[in-house]
Amino acid sequence: MARHIHIAPDPDTLSSLAAEQIVTTAQAAITDHANFYIALAGGRTPQRLYEMLAQAAFADRIDWRRTHVFFSDERCVPPDHDDSNYKPAAKTLLSRVPIPTGQIYRMRGELADAHQAAREYAELLRERLPSTPQGVPVLDLILLGLGQDGHIASLFPGTPILQERAKFTAAVHEEKLDSRRISLTLPVIEAARHILLLVAGEAKADIVRDVLHAHGGSARFPIHMIKPSAEIEWYLDAAAARKLGDFNTPQNPA
Ligand code: 6PG
Repeated sequence: MARHIHIAPDPDTLSSLAAEQIVTTAQAAITDHANFYIALAGGRTPQRLYEMLAQAAFADRIDWRRTHVFFSDERCVPPDHDDSNYKPAAKTLLSRVPIPTGQIYRMRGELADAHQAAREYAELLRERLPSTPQGVPVLDLILLGLGQDGHIASLFPGTPILQERAKFTAAVHEEKLDSRRISLTLPVIEAARHILLLVAGEAKADIVRDVLHAHGGSARFPIHMIKPSAEIEWYLDAAAARKLGDFNTPQNPA
């Protein structure tokens, strides 16, 4: 896989650089096919980015009437639960921009049957998104975080979902965390026109080094299983990039 590494001196500059990329991608997508299809990441890292995207400096440059928001994964909890990925995104971004509510597509983590929630979301992706000639839904941009174990979305190293190449979504039981989730699968992630990985903080320095310095062809981490033709934009702050060695030259802020 091709990768581009952007290193910002601090988390705020990192969020600003990522917000700029999202604005640019949104404008290009709307010019190209009249809509912008984005999948948001869960976890804590993107919260500052979502707050920034809701500010006029960025929000006023995105046509929200033509924007469709999906999620990369969701925990099997109600949308008002503190563990929900939807909840903070709604609070920091979606409630602050004029996006039609019918264009926000939540994974229904509240369903007792996570497999049913995954099936319905896969159907929604088929209905709402353009697709590849092979029928895989195509997002314009997928935002991902990186867990300290190297997971992306709810694709944890060494778990069966990594082998899933037919379904677009799947229910996941992460046993170490005893966490039940719904996640996009690798085919949808790698079909996205832009894959944006946002990683910040000292705690991620080891995994960033391990993932980026792994020898070519390694399949140790989910991100290594993404097809070679996919382009991954790494957005790191200096703390997360600290152990990268020769990559470690913070990008001048925009
Ligand atoms: C989730 C996320 C997950 C997250 C990473 C990083 O549901 O937890 O989808 O993949 O992006 O765990 O999380 P932090 O940003 O909180 O470190």
